[in-house]
Amino acid sequence: MDLTLTAVLPHLIYSFKSEAELVSAIEEVSEKFTRQRERITDYLRDPRLVAAYTAFYALTNIPKLREVLRWMPEAWVKELQSSTLIDLGAGPGTFSQAWTAAGVPRTVYQIEQSPLMREQALKLWSAFGTGALVQGPRWEWSVPNPKLLLFGHSANEMDVATAVRYIDAVDPDHVLFVEPGTKEFFPKMLELRAHLLKLGHRILFPCPLPTACPMDRSDDWCHQFIHVRQDPEVERLTQLARKDRKLLPLTVQAFSRTFSSENPRERVVRVHSETKFAHDWEVCRDNQLQRYQILKRDLTKTESKALGELRAGAAVVTEVLKETEQFTRVKLVTPNNL
Ligand SMILES: C[S@@+](CC[C@H](N)C(=O)[O-])C[C@H]1O[C@@H](n2cnc3c(N)ncnc32)[C@H](O)[C@@H]1O
Repeated sequence: MDLTLTAVLPHLIYSFKSEAELVSAIEEVSEKFTRQRERITDYLRDPRLVAAYTAFYALTNIPKLREVLRWMPEAWVKELQSSTLIDLGAGPGTFSQAWTAAGVPRTVYQIEQSPLMREQALKLWSAFGTGALVQGPRWEWSVPNPKLLLFGHSANEMDVATAVRYIDAVDPDHVLFVEPGTKEFFPKMLELRAHLLKLGHRILFPCPLPTACPMDRSDDWCHQFIHVRQDPEVERLTQLARKDRKLLPLTVQAFSRTFSSENPRERVVRVHSETKFAHDWEVCRDNQLQRYQILKRDLTKTESKALGELRAGAAVVTEVLKETEQFTRVKLVTPNNL
């Protein structure tokens, strides 16, 4: 079951005296994430802001992880169930909670540099966690394989060399990144992707092939969108803090050195505004970018509505009808993950 705000409030390391105080703290944290990136770590030293982060941002991690895993090969997700989770940059540990939400008790390792975040994570885990929790400011354990290393909104807060050192030290079988869908983060993601491929990992998501990324250029970046159903109380905070937390842009990438399956050959990387006549997408097909056009006259109303809701990240299977210099007109064979 997902954590709710009411359930979490008594377990925060700071007690908000009113909803207005909580909303104002959320606005402060949000300001640091978006407008004051140079002061991004300030919130980690203030119990009030750590608690606000937990109440607002971290609560969405549980439904978010569920949605992210729906994009992954089912057999891989099954394989992950027998892996030990290493939650890197764990913060209040909501990805660890999400991981054990199925109720399987197991040991989870959290690496978190901020003592306040570790304190917050321990409080939440004592109330809601299942299984044993091991916490530390750095990787210092010897854990048998298989291991899943999860970067949950944390690789963007460290430099590439630090993330690479963690990957090398943990020596994971599987790696999952769930990071902000920002242009600033993407070049880092590409360096980490290159490092993992060099180590012998296969990329499972989002690329069709392990070859060069066609978005490796300054004006574009590969990211996905996820629609998260919020807890109604968080939804209320969202409105009060004037933040849209329903359609979330993310950078998701998944790697494994033990699991292999054939990746989908076509993945939507951008949804352009549809016209009266057609749906218009940018698709990564065998690691080449193509502009797809799907004529509405070839679709029923219901099919067209479903396509209108499709977001970047979805895999599709199409048949090419016509190629021009500007676009490839296609017929949809199966729209996955609608
Ligand atoms: C935005 S929070 C994300 C927390 C949590 N994973 C989540 O998604 O809600 C980023 C966390 O990464 C941690 N972090 C950043 N660099 C780190 C490093 N080099 N070692 C350990 N933790 C780090 C920060 O202290 C912070 O708690």
